Amino acid sequence: MVSIGLLGFGTVGQGIYRILQDKSEELRALLGTEIEIKSILVRDLYKERKTEVPLSKLTLNPEDIVGDDDIDIIIEVTGDVDLSYRYISQAFERGKHVVTVNKAVVSAYFEELSHLAEENDVFFLYEASVAGGVPVLKPLKDHIRTNNISKVQGILNGTCNYILTRMTEEGLAYEDVLREAQNLGYAEANPSSDVEGTDTMRKLRILSTLALGASVTEDDIICDGIDSISDLDISLLREMGRKAKLIAEARLVEGGYQAIVQPKAVPVGSYFSWVNGADNSVSIVGKYSGVLGFQGPGAGMYPTANAILTDVIDCILQTQKKTSPLRGRRLENRNEDIRGNYYLRISDCDESMKIPKEYIKEIIHDKGGDFAFITEEMKLHDLLYKLAEYEDKPFSLIAMED
Ligand SMILES: NC(=O)c1ccc[n+]([C@@H]2O[C@H](COP(=O)([O-])OP(=O)(O)OC[C@H]3O[C@@H](n4cnc5c(N)ncnc54)[C@H](OP(=O)(O)O)[C@@H]3O)[C@@H](O)[C@H]2O)c1
Repeated sequence: MVSIGLLGFGTVGQGIYRILQDKSEELRALLGTEIEIKSILVRDLYKERKTEVPLSKLTLNPEDIVGDDDIDIIIEVTGDVDLSYRYISQAFERGKHVVTVNKAVVSAYFEELSHLAEENDVFFLYEASVAGGVPVLKPLKDHIRTNNISKVQGILNGTCNYILTRMTEEGLAYEDVLREAQNLGYAEANPSSDVEGTDTMRKLRILSTLALGASVTEDDIICDGIDSISDLDISLLREMGRKAKLIAEARLVEGGYQAIVQPKAVPVGSYFSWVNGADNSVSIVGKYSGVLGFQGPGAGMYPTANAILTDVIDCILQTQKKTSPLRGRRLENRNEDIRGNYYLRISDCDESMKIPKEYIKEIIHDKGGDFAFITEEMKLHDLLYKLAEYEDKPFSLIAMED
């Protein structure tokens, strides 16, 4: 018997419980043993839930789970960073394997937790923390053993992709689609970590640290979101044969690496232009593999729970490694060299702003105070520096994908 302690019983936790019930016979045959969810941590014992569970399994005390010697594997699906960090560390010290979905805790303590798991000879797996239901971290960990990865790129936030897709396909305004996404449960009541790019940045932190072999921390990533993109931007881009996507990207460059989360105008027909709705997608460029693509549901009860259970099965069958996959390579951050052509729309634009002529490659809109143009190829750093001079003028900045 393999005993599991579940920290959290919300959407994802209940998905795990349901799949384990549904597949219990097949799993027993596959593993040669039974999996039992012994205890479940919640905040409220009597909350109405869509999945029936015996009250005796629920607890309000994490110690009941992490301190239980019979429990072999902890699955963490609370979303609470402080609680997760504390009890994941304790679980390792008590010889328990941990599977977590929580990108915030993996991102904040990636190196520390990876080394602690290795020291205690236990598994630390977090497949569902990046791109939800899409299996990408395990193939990536396999690849870095032989392949030199030079670039990872991804659409990693389903809420942002849903909003941009609806704005593009229906010509809707940002605020209207955000409200719709909140009503459908795709977006949180407070959507800031999604729409400001923080959630995507944390996932890029995990992906790029694994892929490039160097610690790429949250502070090493330039981060922008989609909250300043308007329906006017979307329609101007459409006229140019482009779609806006929030793209996370880390790449090796001369002298180091660059890492950025930013809205990009991708050509219709290109790889990421086909990723629509709440889907996620990751592309990995390797020296020997060439370009690899992974795509599918970035969230949702069953896709996410299924990804978590693939990690749980790996713990039981010992089909991943307990040693840390982080390689401690030293690479210099070269974000100040990031350059490209940019779509820039400035609102309330007037003569006094003196946009340097040499910045402008092509004016595409100049009406009602909205001035939109494509820049000449230039350093992002220089452009942002210039924009800071315009202080209170709202602007929308979207990188043009080659
Ligand atoms: N939902 C998705 O599709 C999805 C996809 C990918 C990743 N994730 C990640 O998965 C995690 C969980 O998401 P979710 O949608 O399942 O969340 P959720 O529905 O809000 O459920 C959270 C669960 O954790 C419990 N919990 C939270 N904080 C706690 C605390 N301090 N002490 C005790 N119990 C606590 C809650 O207890 P109560 O039930 O008593 O409130 C609830 O059962 C998050 O990290 C999220 O980012 C979710």
